[in-house]
Amino acid sequence: MTEPTTSPIRRKLIEVSLPLEEINRESAREKSVPRKGHPATMHLWWARRPLATARAVLFAQLVDDPSSHPDKFRTSEEQAAERERLHQIIRELVVWENANDEGLLRRAHAEIVASAPDGTPPAILDPFAGGGTIPLEAQRLGLDAHASDLNPVAVLINKALIEIPPKFSGRPPVFPGAAESRLGGWPRASGLAEDVRRYGAWMRDRASERIGHLYPQAALPDGSPATVIAWIWARTVTCPNPACRIEMPLVRSWWLGKKKGKEAYVVPRVVDDPSVPSGRRVMFDIAHDPRLGPTKDNDGTVMRTGATCCACGSTADLKYTRAEGREGRLGSKLMAVVAEGVRQRVYLPASDQADAAARVERPAHLPDGEVADNPRWFSTPAFGMTKFTDLFTNRQLVALTTLSDLVSEARDQALKDAVSAGCPDGFPLELGGTDAVAYADAIATFLAFALSKLADWSSSICSWIPQIEGVRDTFARQALPMVWDYVEINPFSNSVGNAGAHVTWVADGVDGLPSRSEVRASASQADAARTTFSSTEVVSTDPPYYDNIGYSDLSDFFYVWLRRSLREVHPSLLSTMLVPKAEELVANPYRHGGKEGASQFFEDGFERVFARARESANENYPITVYYAFKQSELESEGVSSTGWATLLEGMIRSGWAITATWPVRSERSGRMISVGTNALASSIVLALRPRQESAQAITRRGFLAALKSRLPQALREMQQGAIAPVDLAQSTIGPGMAVFSSYAKVVEPDGTPMTVKTALALINQALDEVLAEQDGDLDADTRFCLKWYAQYGWSEKAFGEADVLARATNTSVDGLARGGVLTSRAGRVRLLPPQDLPSTWDPDADDRLSVWEAMMHLARVLDSGGVEAAGALMPRIRQRVDLETVQLLAYRLYELTQSTRPSDALLFNALGTSWSDLSSVARRTEATVTTSQSSFDFDALDEEF
Ligand SMILES: C[S@@+](CC[C@H](N)C(=O)[O-])C[C@H]1O[C@@H](n2cnc3c(N)ncnc32)[C@H](O)[C@@H]1O
Repeated sequence: MTEPTTSPIRRKLIEVSLPLEEINRESAREKSVPRKGHPATMHLWWARRPLATARAVLFAQLVDDPSSHPDKFRTSEEQAAERERLHQIIRELVVWENANDEGLLRRAHAEIVASAPDGTPPAILDPFAGGGTIPLEAQRLGLDAHASDLNPVAVLINKALIEIPPKFSGRPPVFPGAAESRLGGWPRASGLAEDVRRYGAWMRDRASERIGHLYPQAALPDGSPATVIAWIWARTVTCPNPACRIEMPLVRSWWLGKKKGKEAYVVPRVVDDPSVPSGRRVMFDIAHDPRLGPTKDNDGTVMRTGATCCACGSTADLKYTRAEGREGRLGSKLMAVVAEGVRQRVYLPASDQADAAARVERPAHLPDGEVADNPRWFSTPAFGMTKFTDLFTNRQLVALTTLSDLVSEARDQALKDAVSAGCPDGFPLELGGTDAVAYADAIATFLAFALSKLADWSSSICSWIPQIEGVRDTFARQALPMVWDYVEINPFSNSVGNAGAHVTWVADGVDGLPSRSEVRASASQADAARTTFSSTEVVSTDPPYYDNIGYSDLSDFFYVWLRRSLREVHPSLLSTMLVPKAEELVANPYRHGGKEGASQFFEDGFERVFARARESANENYPITVYYAFKQSELESEGVSSTGWATLLEGMIRSGWAITATWPVRSERSGRMISVGTNALASSIVLALRPRQESAQAITRRGFLAALKSRLPQALREMQQGAIAPVDLAQSTIGPGMAVFSSYAKVVEPDGTPMTVKTALALINQALDEVLAEQDGDLDADTRFCLKWYAQYGWSEKAFGEADVLARATNTSVDGLARGGVLTSRAGRVRLLPPQDLPSTWDPDADDRLSVWEAMMHLARVLDSGGVEAAGALMPRIRQRVDLETVQLLAYRLYELTQSTRPSDALLFNALGTSWSDLSSVARRTEATVTTSQSSFDFDALDEEF
């Protein structure tokens, strides 16, 4: 029995241990496939956090670590068992398919309530709510959720996720005939979702009646008509060669389809045409023979510096094209038509009729708004496309204005239908209404979201992707780049990006929302630097990070359309012409007088927010803050990078102590050695506690001693969560920083306060030492192997050297060879890498089993047989050696090899990364063995349920 771990404050799970690998894995899985019903598909927002991460973080932020209850969990074993139970809840919670599992969510909520000092959990406040991930997950967990953001588009998204649907939870749809279309009730917001679907279809049909004729069918080669999916255009500029002056197409790539057996590409051809000033024009044919298709050297006409004329070969440099653009002299030419064929896309040559059909009048009542003057993200103004409406063709503008008008018409219709269904008028949504008017407002809001989606898929920044024969939307990147050959989708087809599909995505999103009416939710517009925080709320937030994303400038693209469609529905939120910019926390050199001014603005603002939050911090809970590293910063400076240190410094200065730092990822990380990756995580979740006013200063020496005494235990607790070795250093910053930031300051020998950057380096160093010190607890054979490996890796050396080391570590070379970890032949000794170990190995029959050997065999089996095979081996190994020590050895070896032997580091990382999977296979294997050995005890089973 081990001594209990006690703690004066009630530490939360997030401050001790998380099943990090599972959280990261599920977060990556959730992000990799946008699914119907996922809220992210309802409206675009840049760099959303995965729901899984937010759900796990909130749960762990609010639930006590068992060490906070030494009265209930007296030994560290009991605490570990309880921690494992809580980890198991997190493991279930993070699975996307469980997101609306009521039973599971109730269980999670009950844990949160049980950890609340007075049985009432706090509300969650996210003052940088963005796409709404954190507030939504708070609501899902049954908590009151308050979202605020400076950006009205973000506020609207948050309203749509947490505020609006619960008002109408459980209500049947009002569209005539819809309520009767389903047996049973309309749980959550499914009635509202159904109405969004119905009025969306109604809108699409009205639009088709009004403007459908602008999208004529195409004739297939056999003469039969086919619906067009998309038109592919090239921008054009007049050739600068005075002898040519042809309208030269600006094309990045001629390829249309690259799927094997379905190759297609455009072939330009110059023909005489006396009707145009140059007397010639470029026509486009479609060809299919992959052997004759464009190659790297002759694909398209546009290069980095300019474009080549396909008639005369002259170059139009970028400067010329920009100047022509600014003079309004860029044109467009239809290159190809993509039509619906039988189970495949059919590429047809552009016809004059198809080209002419698109050349409609620019509609009236267009939204106004200039694209930001920031060439880093916005390239179009340099070519004269300075207004948001310049980013669309006239036909696209007609479609968007028609549908935007129809949002209001659908709202009127929905209001009439709701009243006919017996609902009183009531107040508008903005005034807190919940009756017919508010309901119609809600429907209009979601229909406008579908319009936002259509705008994203229907600008002339969209391009064709020949590899998948699909469309790259406007915001495939967090920027508005200039696109030369663009694609115009047919909003009335049944294929890629059509208007109906966007309605379905939005409606399905509404359907999948938790929509809990029993908790309070609010979404409002506020500058986080002026927000008044309250101690009844606990913050969980994902602030902007320096100049990573220009949210306000980007979101104007949507804002102008949302404002056009919803100004009467959300009059105060959409009152400004464009999204507010001045208070936005972003290090934008164009706004703040250069790079330095921009960083200063950001850092000051950031600190101000956290200083305010500190003023009314709730002492019972940590707050959580997400931090995003810049990739370049990580690569050059690692975990003690300057930006990171500056922000930590700011938080500490504003009165916070850092109690945890967890590297979270939403990129897929290779789990097996073959696809392994040892990239550092680019995001960190921090837990912060208000630093005690009574905190004392300490010397550097005192700090180092405190670190050394705290880290081993922290490491053991963390290890329970099975974190990947690659994540160990970033995770250990947490307990290290907890020590550092619990003091008023750490004093250097020369009397100056220690910087965070120095502290980060010392924490890293202390981790290495702690891991190395644990070597002393290893068995003699393992100590030998570790030392030998650290020096020579897998290479062969003289027996004499091995003999000396073996004696020093209290073992023998012969014994080690018999043990099966090395070969000793003809005076040469070599450690065996996992792939050279015998596949017939049987742990039960091994009479000299060391931690090293066990680890290497696990790595071998994991590599060759996968998680199932390696996990099944674990129970047998556990009979002989301590598995926790095996896991620690994997961390140790990873730390040892990460910079010097990257391929070995991958191997050890893969083992550490898979540890929790291996453990669950092991548990399953053991359970199967136990169950098959014992007979069923039905009474005991009854009791369990
Ligand atoms: C990293 S994003 C949040 C993303 C969000 N967690 C999600 O998953 O979608 C940061 C947000 O901070 C907002 N923001 C920037 N400056 C702000 C300010 N001064 N006050 C409030 N919000 C601000 C931006 O509009 C942006 O939505």
